[in-house]
Amino acid sequence: MSAPEERYRDALAAAARHARAWLESQDTRPVGPGTTAAGLAADFGGPLPREGAPAAEVVDYLAAKAEPGLMAMPSGRFFGWVIGGTLPAALAADWLVSAWDQNAGLRFATPATAAIEEGAGAWLLELLGLPTGAEVGFATGATMANFTGLAAARWRLMTDAGWDLDADGLAGAPRIRCFVGQERHDTIDLGLRYLGLGRPTVVPADRQGRIDPAALGDALDRAAVEGKGPVPLLVCLQAGNLHSGAFDPFREAIAVARAHGAWIHVDGAFGLWAAAVPELAALTDGLQDADSWGTDAHKTLNVPYDCGIAVVRDAAALRAAMGVHTSYLIQAADGAADPFEKVPELSRRARGVPVWAALKSLGRDGVAAQVRGLVAHARELAERLAALDGVEVLNDVGYTQVSLAFGDDATTRAVTAKIIADGRVWMSGSRWQGRDILRISVSNWSTDAADVQVAVDSVREAVAAVRG
Ligand SMILES: Cc1ncc(COP(=O)(O)O)c(C=O)c1O
Repeated sequence: MSAPEERYRDALAAAARHARAWLESQDTRPVGPGTTAAGLAADFGGPLPREGAPAAEVVDYLAAKAEPGLMAMPSGRFFGWVIGGTLPAALAADWLVSAWDQNAGLRFATPATAAIEEGAGAWLLELLGLPTGAEVGFATGATMANFTGLAAARWRLMTDAGWDLDADGLAGAPRIRCFVGQERHDTIDLGLRYLGLGRPTVVPADRQGRIDPAALGDALDRAAVEGKGPVPLLVCLQAGNLHSGAFDPFREAIAVARAHGAWIHVDGAFGLWAAAVPELAALTDGLQDADSWGTDAHKTLNVPYDCGIAVVRDAAALRAAMGVHTSYLIQAADGAADPFEKVPELSRRARGVPVWAALKSLGRDGVAAQVRGLVAHARELAERLAALDGVEVLNDVGYTQVSLAFGDDATTRAVTAKIIADGRVWMSGSRWQGRDILRISVSNWSTDAADVQVAVDSVREAVAAVRG
């Protein structure tokens, strides 16, 4: 056995060396991976070796063999899905989280990570203008952050309807009627499915995908009339549409939903961060009046993966929906909510620590500048691409998303494939409002003017090659 001070030394030194080499290659390497999962199967599969290997050797092997199969998602030239990069302070803090190895569920047992996450939570409420005193939980991603808010909603709505959900479950329970905009993210439906709430009523949206508040009011009226008594209602709104970047009209939609006594949840996976930018205030106006919010700190704040954030105004509902009470979980004497009472997981890593580090390293002005920069780059890309022959920008670019078409669907698909094969940038295809499109999402803090220029060049050249 090596001396205690040497046990981790070589493996961590190797990991730091490989991590730096990977990150320093981002400005120049092709963005897409050079192989497939099947192509790598032999390197990572086969029979489990009988004997082990020194830790540093394992790390060297991993780095060398994985490298050809990695997508340069931290690159400023990666514009796919809605995937941000990772800030240096957040990445380094994430390494510390692994080294500290705290099971972050209990305040009493791991006070440092609990205090850091509580500090990060309070900063987030302040930054995003959300109600002081709301509970903040750190889940895996936006899907689970939204699920967490919806679970609190289900508990509150059932309890107010006189139903003991914990004792009696869903069988025979009052039906909660759920309402979503036509262009909500599919994972909202998934969250409702996890919760046994069934398929939601879909409310029409406008050309940018924003829910129509008048149609929402009509749908809620109809639901109220159909019920024999008061009907529990749940309305899900959206801050940031995957294709257009559009935001639901919160002030009007929330007023309508409130008038019907609904619980209002906002999916702000990547859009909630607009609330940190004074010039974008119109986008999130009124959003603060909802009951719960979900976001993903990876997407726009740029911390490493595994960091959704659920914010719930009704602390009692959240703790009742998520908490578990058993004799061996000793809680802190002050009665404050434990981390495990705010998210689905009991044991978990301290994923709020990188959020604290990102906020500390940027400050309020830095977060605003980062989001402002993403939006400015998206707008510049839209303007410059719209000026090219054969390029159509399909959305109003008010946030970080640009949706493009290049004529008919086959041409759009061919241009998309050409851009991906070229490798200078990565942009993903999608289908929106009956058309094949190319989506650009500017979500990485490191995207700069040079990256925007490369993006314009690669789209222009791909269009020219496909259209001849
Ligand atoms: C609006 C919206 N909601 C939810 C999600 C799901 O987020 P996650 O992949 O973090 O679970 C996404 C993902 O892009 C999204 O854009």
